[in-house]
Amino acid sequence: MSERVSAGTRFHLVLPAAGSGQRMSADRPKQYLEIAGRTLLQHTLERLGAMDCFSSIVLVLAPDDPWWPDIESQLASALQKKILVVDGGAERCDSVRSGLLALQAKAGSNDFVLVHDVVRPCVRQSDVRLLMDALSDEVAGGLLATPLRDTLKRADDAGRVAMTVDRARLWCAATPQMFRYHILRQALEKVSVENRKVTDEAEAVEALGYQVKLVQGRADNIKITYPDDLPLAALILGAMD
Ligand code: C5P
Repeated sequence: MSERVSAGTRFHLVLPAAGSGQRMSADRPKQYLEIAGRTLLQHTLERLGAMDCFSSIVLVLAPDDPWWPDIESQLASALQKKILVVDGGAERCDSVRSGLLALQAKAGSNDFVLVHDVVRPCVRQSDVRLLMDALSDEVAGGLLATPLRDTLKRADDAGRVAMTVDRARLWCAATPQMFRYHILRQALEKVSVENRKVTDEAEAVEALGYQVKLVQGRADNIKITYPDDLPLAALILGAMD
């Protein structure tokens, strides 16, 4: 990693996993669906938890999540000890805010926080390092993203093409997203006070007027959203192991 990160700057990981995953139409939240005998949550936790760069790992779960105790008991004890579990909120941004609050006593204001959706189990450690290295000099931070591959159509109410959107300079936002602790806290507090919904951290930070850097990551860092994402993730994970 770059030496430009000033001595003493630390990295903390926040993993929002408090969603219900309704679009998946499964009998459990999607983070508890399995690929090759391990839940998505385990795949993500074990890969990122194996990196020695994180000073803290905060896992944000739904209050009274009934699936976690069994999963926790299957984790290596060193990893179990490193994870701080906190309750999430109604929206993803509420869950991340709760994770940040839990870091209050641990994180310096200029420390970086990486927020990663646990339902992106195919994230590579190399992409995480790439992100950390690319953002070390940034005032606020940035995110992994991929340039849009497909031609983009905007639909009208009847489901017909209203227009073709120029894809030049369009990117798909992924995670981890990495920001200075004090900036992300401030950004998400503002979102909460204004009762706005944002679907990623970057949007909240952008709204404060900061520049947010895009770092090109791998396109196979997919988010599990619909049932047919699972077999694709299984293929990607199979090729990684
Ligand atoms: O629903 P979506 O795919 O956008 O969720 C992305 C991530 O945010 C998931 O890991 C999900 O568990 C988490 N989430 C959360 N709290 C919520 C909603 C979603 O932690 N209220």
